[in-house]
Amino acid sequence: MASQPFDGKSSPPPAVTEYNAMLERQAAIWNGRGLDGVIEAYRSMTVEKNRASLHETYLHLLRRQAEPNPLPRIDFHEFPKGARPHLLGLYLGTLVGGVYPRLCWQSSDIARGTLTYIFPGGPADTTTWRQKLPVISAWLGDHWTIANETSNTITLVRRTPLPETLLFSPSQLKDGALFLGVDADTQKPVMLPFADMTSGTFIPGASGTGKSNALHIIIQSLLANARYFQAIYLVDGKDGVAFNRYRNAAPGRVHVLWQDAEVWKLATDLTAVLRHRNELQRNQGIDNATRDFIAVVIDEMATFTARPSVDSKNPDNKLHAKFIDDLTLLARRGRSGGLRLIVSAQEPVVEQIPASVRANCLTSIAFRLPVDAHATAMFGQLDGLPTDPRRLPRGQALFKNGLSGDVRRVQFPVMRRT
Ligand SMILES: Nc1ncnc2c1ncn2[C@@H]1O[C@H](COP(=O)(O)OP(=O)(O)OP(=O)(O)O)[C@@H](O)[C@H]1O
Ligand SMILES: [Mg+2]
Repeated sequence: MASQPFDGKSSPPPAVTEYNAMLERQAAIWNGRGLDGVIEAYRSMTVEKNRASLHETYLHLLRRQAEPNPLPRIDFHEFPKGARPHLLGLYLGTLVGGVYPRLCWQSSDIARGTLTYIFPGGPADTTTWRQKLPVISAWLGDHWTIANETSNTITLVRRTPLPETLLFSPSQLKDGALFLGVDADTQKPVMLPFADMTSGTFIPGASGTGKSNALHIIIQSLLANARYFQAIYLVDGKDGVAFNRYRNAAPGRVHVLWQDAEVWKLATDLTAVLRHRNELQRNQGIDNATRDFIAVVIDEMATFTARPSVDSKNPDNKLHAKFIDDLTLLARRGRSGGLRLIVSAQEPVVEQIPASVRANCLTSIAFRLPVDAHATAMFGQLDGLPTDPRRLPRGQALFKNGLSGDVRRVQFPVMRRT
């Protein structure tokens, strides 16, 4: 059908209506109102030129905002809620390569809670965005997490927040790996393959923050994977109370100990095992163990680090000094020999964990560390972390992968009382 000239009296043809609507929206984009519902408007347009113009207005707004004296001035407080996802990058002040990231109108669905951001100016700044998730959630409303990331995009999804208490279920366990709870930001399970563990894993955290509970979850992973282990030693600095329940879990393989003398002997025996294993490996040209692991889980390390007596003539002092030496050797050389040492202590200080052992625990799972010096002893700078280790809620920890250096915030489930 040939198009009719528009006489201004009859109703305008659809193409003109669409064009006018587009102009109206373009004008409204400058005060934010027009961004509310703009994706639906954009998608409903049939004329490609209108769509392109509308999108260009959005890009233009972002470009103008990156200039030294941006106009319009945006009042983030008053900014309409439905329009906020479009200016999130601007709100966060995350200029990358001189450009604010933009909301992808093709793949985002605001109503269903999926927002994909494109970083045209450079690599997606996931670390900063992960840290700012609480700020993002506060501004957008609801609870947002990072669901996906590529070199130049970040996808946020809206989720119901994790409940304060998650319950453990054996279905969360996986073959050949430690289950370390749920990533509090992505809500995905966090797994650490036994082969990727460093020889030492350190679990610090103030009293009552969830260390022992985490060890119980870790022990569940060890028991479910007992076939990969030659032995699993559970050393309980609280007189065997907590670990005694595992005494018969895998007969001949799981050993529960708590007395000083037993623990000292274990350290001596394991150094011999390790020397032997290292020798075999040298002969066979093998570098890393992938099975026949030996796990040593020590809760409340401080109990064993403390010297038996200040009296230097006490013969136990010598044995204790040897124990610390053995432990250091285990932590330093254990990885290739298949040893996996997992120790908890309330504070990352030499009185609780010998410096030499600590230095070899590259992997860590840090629960709340309210003292500044302890938090910085674990992480150095606190700025780049997913959250502040001094303010972690009970049951949450910062898990640092000792091999990759990657740090994430995890929440452990609790064991159901039996
Ligand atoms: N992941 C968690 N989610 C919810 N509650 C938890 C979690 N972990 C621990 N709790 C609660 O906190 C209490 C203390 O936990 P836990 O015994 O593990 O702390 P801890 O760090 O070992 O303390 P301490 O240093 O005194 O031994 C538990 O009884 C439990 O009720
Ligand atoms: Mg405890």
